[in-house]
Amino acid sequence: MSLAIRAEGLVKHYGETKALDGVDLEVPVGKVVGVLGPNGAGKTTAVRVLATLLRPDAGHATVGGHDVVKDPVRVRSLIGLTGQYASVDEDLSGTENLVLIARLLDHSRAGARARAAELLEQFELTEAAGRPARTYSGGMRRRLDLAASLVGNPAVLYLDEPTTGLDPHARNEVWRVVRKLVADGATVLLTTQYLEEADQLADTITVFDHGRVVAEGRADELKRRVGGQTLQVRPTSLADLDAVQRILGDLTGMRPTRDDDTGLLTAAVSDPVLLSTLVRKLDEAGITADELALRLPSLDEVFLALTGRKAEEGSLV
Ligand SMILES: Nc1ncnc2c1ncn2[C@@H]1O[C@H](COP(=O)(O)OP(=O)(O)OP(=O)(O)O)[C@@H](O)[C@H]1O
Ligand SMILES: [Mg+2]
Repeated sequence: MSLAIRAEGLVKHYGETKALDGVDLEVPVGKVVGVLGPNGAGKTTAVRVLATLLRPDAGHATVGGHDVVKDPVRVRSLIGLTGQYASVDEDLSGTENLVLIARLLDHSRAGARARAAELLEQFELTEAAGRPARTYSGGMRRRLDLAASLVGNPAVLYLDEPTTGLDPHARNEVWRVVRKLVADGATVLLTTQYLEEADQLADTITVFDHGRVVAEGRADELKRRVGGQTLQVRPTSLADLDAVQRILGDLTGMRPTRDDDTGLLTAAVSDPVLLSTLVRKLDEAGITADELALRLPSLDEVFLALTGRKAEEGSLV
């Protein structure tokens, strides 16, 4: 398995803050590695080191076999970066933004226009191509950002929190684009605060906390460590608690946890299909519920399981 990115023992201090505290990271060619972590975990710092924008205090990293410190020019020729904050010029149109970048990358005038048109088409921005970027929605802007990082046809793409702050629809649009890029052979290093995003896009996930790697694995492996999904039921009448507890227990083969104060029953499930079975069983028993939900573990729960504490603690910047 050949590696597009290999980082070993990366350390970066900002004064007293240890933003990276000995990070190892490997990204195989053609794969998507998701770096998951709360605010201040060191995700952007790692991306900046790997993008040659920041020198590590210790450790080393290569991209496509080239050292990020010794050979930054070669590394830059391989990578595209979509930063955490939008980098397009608001006053320029979609076309103008992309043509500008293509010209900076030495495309001819005609070549630059052709590349811009091709990318705008690919990202479904052709209709908005002539409008200033400031008139774009959040999702369109993110797509333009992504397009901008692809002008030079990079083999390796860094996406730093590509969907933070986007609504679910815009998030889906970005996911679609990233999936397409990967299908076309790109290698992607993606940072995110959302387990679901890493789950949707990444082949493997590396969890960062306080500048360290605290866990690594496929999404399902991490979730199993967290306990997978849970089913929650709150019967309308407290008198039904015993009956619902029995039904839920039989269904999941697990002993549900029961909160007599709130009337909430919770059980871990391995198969989401159980939700509809539960609805049917409750219906047959003539029991109504005020609350009935299938929940995925949240990033907080992943964190709690991996680190024994909540994600917010100590992560405020
Ligand atoms: N230029 C800087 N000067 C001083 N401290 C910094 C600087 N950049 C980052 N830090 C600190 O380094 C730590 C890691 O920051 P980093 O931006 O890498 O985190 P992050 O995981 O990207 O967080 P977020 O999810 O908020 O983007 C934080 O404690 C942050 O305050
Ligand atoms: Mg960041």
